[in-house]
Amino acid sequence: MKEFNFKRHRRTRMNPIIRSMVRETELSKNDFIYPLFVAPGNKYKKEVSSMPGVYQMSIDEIVKDCEEVIKLGIPAVILFGIPEHKDELGSDAYNPDGIIQRTVRTIKKEIPELYVITDVCLCEYTSHGHCGIVKEDEIVNDASIELLAKEALTHAQAGADMVAPSDMFDGRVKAIRNILDQNGFTNIPIMSYAAKYASGFYGPFREAAESTPQFGDRRSHQMDPANSDEALREVQTDIEEGADIVMVKPALPYLDIIRRVKDNFHMPTAAYNVSGEYSMIKAASKLGWIDEQRVMMEVLTSIKRAGADLILTYFAKDAAKLL
Ligand code: PBG
Repeated sequence: MKEFNFKRHRRTRMNPIIRSMVRETELSKNDFIYPLFVAPGNKYKKEVSSMPGVYQMSIDEIVKDCEEVIKLGIPAVILFGIPEHKDELGSDAYNPDGIIQRTVRTIKKEIPELYVITDVCLCEYTSHGHCGIVKEDEIVNDASIELLAKEALTHAQAGADMVAPSDMFDGRVKAIRNILDQNGFTNIPIMSYAAKYASGFYGPFREAAESTPQFGDRRSHQMDPANSDEALREVQTDIEEGADIVMVKPALPYLDIIRRVKDNFHMPTAAYNVSGEYSMIKAASKLGWIDEQRVMMEVLTSIKRAGADLILTYFAKDAAKLL
């Protein structure tokens, strides 16, 4: 009779020392990018009701938070703006004195060692809440990317270290690369939201950024959650147009996409652990249904294990405290 043989996998799991010796994935504070929402005013700090621990803050409060971010060892923030006034063309987005431009100037003056990334989009600035110009019932591509390029340029002129277009229009990486290069910003990298899905997980963000579309949705430019090959085509296009870092968003429901993107392109790859992913964990832990810290670390580790080099996450400060 053939002898039954088996492998004792548990030998390398028996205690914390050996477990840490064979661990394949290690989170680092250097992986984190912390999102911040800038609002008008002074000494203004208002918690986002669907995102406990996340605030809309005026510039002075943002600076205080950035000091804490750098003290915790987190190298970078990404900024989202809530302008004083919104209009059809989102003009505050590319106003050299707009809310983000002022915030960038202030942070870079007060805390020059913090790496400042700006989100480039129009949805927070347009009265209709769409990411570009709307004509009849179409969200127009080509005219919108010119405005996005202008926006990116004003961010670079204000001192941003990197720009991150999140609109998902076609050709915007090329338009932004061109305008940056023509104006002497050849060394400012672009992190493109390359495979961004039309996701229900953005709900809480739209409360935080006050960017809910007043009609329609974003399905004509953001990706269909059912598609995977298409994500590779999107990422490839952005790389060809000049993206330096490519992002997959959301993260958790799209870990397979992160892995495919990393394996196919060998690019610095970012993943956005979005608002809904954050709020689900916060809500379940508030109800006592899960252990918040444990689940948070498990989720962040899984995103890195899937292939992400960088993680945009509202958990950055909480996780940094544990690392
Ligand atoms: C668009 C943008 C969105 C997010 C980041 N940039 C929302 C959207 O596309 O509707 C979502 C981030 C999150 O949910 O945490 N400017």
